[in-house]
Amino acid sequence: MDLSNHKYKREAWNSRLGFIMAASGSAVGLGNIWKFPYIVGQNGGGAFVLVYIFCTLAVGLPIMLSEFTIGRKTKLNPVGAFQALKPNSHWVKVGYMGVLAGFLILSFYGVVGGWTLAYVIKALTHTMTTFSSSNEAGEFFGTFISNTWEVLFYQALFMGICVGIVLRGVQGGIEKACKVLMPILVVILVILMFRALTLPGAIDGVEFYLKPDFSKIGPQTILIALGQAFFSLSLGMGCMLTYGSYLSDQENLASATVYVVIFDTMIALLVGMVIFPAVFAMGLEPTEGPSLVFSVLPAVFFDMPFGNVVSIIFFTLLAIAAITSGISLLEVVVAYFIDQRKWSREKAVLITSAVIFAFGVPSSLSFGILSDVKLFGMTFFDHVDNIASNYLLPLGGMLTAIFIGWIWGTKNAEEEIKKNKTNPHWINIWRFLICYISPVAVFFVFCAKFI
Ligand code: TRP
Repeated sequence: MDLSNHKYKREAWNSRLGFIMAASGSAVGLGNIWKFPYIVGQNGGGAFVLVYIFCTLAVGLPIMLSEFTIGRKTKLNPVGAFQALKPNSHWVKVGYMGVLAGFLILSFYGVVGGWTLAYVIKALTHTMTTFSSSNEAGEFFGTFISNTWEVLFYQALFMGICVGIVLRGVQGGIEKACKVLMPILVVILVILMFRALTLPGAIDGVEFYLKPDFSKIGPQTILIALGQAFFSLSLGMGCMLTYGSYLSDQENLASATVYVVIFDTMIALLVGMVIFPAVFAMGLEPTEGPSLVFSVLPAVFFDMPFGNVVSIIFFTLLAIAAITSGISLLEVVVAYFIDQRKWSREKAVLITSAVIFAFGVPSSLSFGILSDVKLFGMTFFDHVDNIASNYLLPLGGMLTAIFIGWIWGTKNAEEEIKKNKTNPHWINIWRFLICYISPVAVFFVFCAKFI
């Protein structure tokens, strides 16, 4: 049964590899390269990494398979998908929530994405002078993010690049871009890892990163790890659902899920193997926080032989990762207007991206002229990030798990998954996780946000 009622042929991925690259491109982003290391640094290193891996496998993986399944079954955007499976029910609101979350996340993701582009250009043009300490690099970063026109220019540039790719559609744009960009990213990371590991003193960083100290694990650590797993795997707002909607019935959903999860986790782990050895070799603190990448690493790089080259490479990589994630966020909003409102792709991309950019402007200025405009002690940027990442995503993920486990039912879902040969044992494990573990775990995280 074709639930989409489409007269025209819906777009689709060209190859299995292309789909896996695109979904990995969505998953691997600022969450892996910018957020993961500083969160690991703040939460005690090795032990946190183990908890994170557990959350990824026990909660993230089953929810990702669920999103792919709903997407491929309905071949629709999040709103259309819930409407097709449970017409005119409150579940359709979960779809709307996803589109809204995509809108909100991209509005501030574009800001940080813009910073990465700025650092590529600053490194290329040698504007980042030799920093003798991470303080100097931190000041440089602070001056940059408070410069109104500069941050807006780079935010617009980032959005413009995403628009250029998404305009070309699924196969010609997103798939082609990710197929080229993702392998480059892996190669660059491996080179950087060898560079970092051969620095004198790097071994202390490796030890911090790999040697678990379980005394550092508490309930709060587990909550942070679960939230990070969500954000990093692009779950909870129908992003993977939308990518799954462009999949053909020939693709094996379960194995695609496993590939994407492994790829995303490997990249995060690899990034840790770059950052911590470098940070420890430079005698810096791993607990630096969100500014770790932007203010500590340039100092690290400039103290190294060929530092400027390394810094160009690193920020290019960060920008690539941010772009392949940014396009997946934009595609969710665009797919909604194409499927549900029957807009053309051009109209959908141009209008939504312009509105998202405009909504992102106060986020961009939250580090400069609007830094003192605060509500409950948080800037506009903080609020948008907080509402989307800490409320909409966990809620969306939990509801998706409940929907597939209890409302639409695992029987229907399994029918879709079993269109391709899948090991029945794996399906049994998935059913258990999605019915009992995922919703309860996410509920736990969600409640903790209120406490
Ligand atoms: N996963 C991406 C990252 O790690 C960000 C991202 C893209 C995302 N699409 C998403 C996060 C959907 C949550 C939901 O940077």
